[in-house]
Amino acid sequence: ATEKLALKARIRQLLKEKQAVLVAHYYVDAELQDLAEETGGCVSDSLEMARFGRDHPAQTLVVAGVKFMGETAKILSPEKTILMPDLDATCSLDLGCPADEFTAFCDAHPDRTVVVYANTSAAVKARADWMVTSSIGLDIVAHLHAQGKKILWAPDKHLGSYIQQKTGADMLLWQGSCLVHDEFKGIELDLLKAEHPHAKVLVHPESPAAVVAQADVVGSTSQMIHAAQTMDAEEFIVATDNGILHKMQLAAPGKRFIVAPTAGNSATCKSCAHCPWMAMNGLRNLLHVLESGDNQIHVERATSEKAKLCIDRMLDFAA
Ligand code: 13P
Ligand code: SF4
Repeated sequence: ATEKLALKARIRQLLKEKQAVLVAHYYVDAELQDLAEETGGCVSDSLEMARFGRDHPAQTLVVAGVKFMGETAKILSPEKTILMPDLDATCSLDLGCPADEFTAFCDAHPDRTVVVYANTSAAVKARADWMVTSSIGLDIVAHLHAQGKKILWAPDKHLGSYIQQKTGADMLLWQGSCLVHDEFKGIELDLLKAEHPHAKVLVHPESPAAVVAQADVVGSTSQMIHAAQTMDAEEFIVATDNGILHKMQLAAPGKRFIVAPTAGNSATCKSCAHCPWMAMNGLRNLLHVLESGDNQIHVERATSEKAKLCIDRMLDFAA
C-alpha cells in the first residue's frame, strides 16, 4: 500500500511538472480513474475522451485506455504529445478489421456511405465518411437514413444490428465483435432478472441482440452511468466491462450493481466482463511513460489528415 501511495504521489508530481493531463476510460483501473479526476484530467466514454483531449490546453496527454483512443487524440491534435502506458493495448474490434480488407469491402460497395465505429485503426478511419461512438451512432445513422443514404458499417456487428433495427436504415455490416461484450448471454440474463425482479438492466450496445433486447437502457458507458444515477431503482444489472462499477458506485451511492452473466467463469473465460487490453494500464507503466516520454503515439500524416475528417464530422454533429 505504501508503494502505491508513493507511485501515485510521483505520478501527480510529474503530471504537474510536465503540464500533462491524464485522459482515462471507465474500464481502466479504479486508481487510474481517480488519479485522472483528481489531477484535472477526465474519466469518460470515447466521445468525451476525444473532445476533452482536443479542447484541453495541455501539450501532453496521457491516454489510459486502448490504442484507438490514443490515435484519435493524436489525429485531433497532431501538435500534442500523446503517451500511452502500454502501446500493445488494442481492441478486438480494431484487430478484426484490417485496413486492406476493409478498403476492399468499401471498394466493392461504392454506393454506400461508410460509417465506422471509433474502435478502429487510423487507417480504417481514413477510408470512412463518418466515425461514430456508441453514444451517438444511433443519431448519426438516423440522420443519414433520413437523407436516403445506404450505409456500410464496420466493425461491430452487434452495435450495427442494434442501430439498423432502431433506425430501419439499409446497413451492410462488417462481422466484428468485442470479445468482452460478446460473452454476455441472453438466457442467463433472463434467469438473473427473475431472481432480481426489481432490477433495471443497463446494456452497452456491443452486447448480443438477446441481451440488448432485455435492456431498460442501452447506451455508451457515460450514458449507462447517467442512467444508474438518475433512474428510480435501487438495483441494476450491468452488461459491460466491470471497470465501470467504480464510477457507478460513486455516482449512485447506496444503489446495488450486479454484472450481467457471461457463459464462462474466470477459469474458462479470460476476458469475462473485463477487457484484457484496458487492464494493461497500470500505475507502474503510467509512471514509466511520464518519466521517460516512451510510448508516444504517432500517426502517419496523410492517414491522420484523412481520418480527421470523419472524426470532425462526428464532433461537429455532436456539438
Ligand atoms: P464507450 O464509448 O461507450 O465508452 O465504449 C468504448 C468501448 O470500448 C466499449 O467497449
Ligand atoms: Fe475493444 Fe471490447 Fe476492450 Fe472495448 S471492451 S476496448 S470494444 S475489446
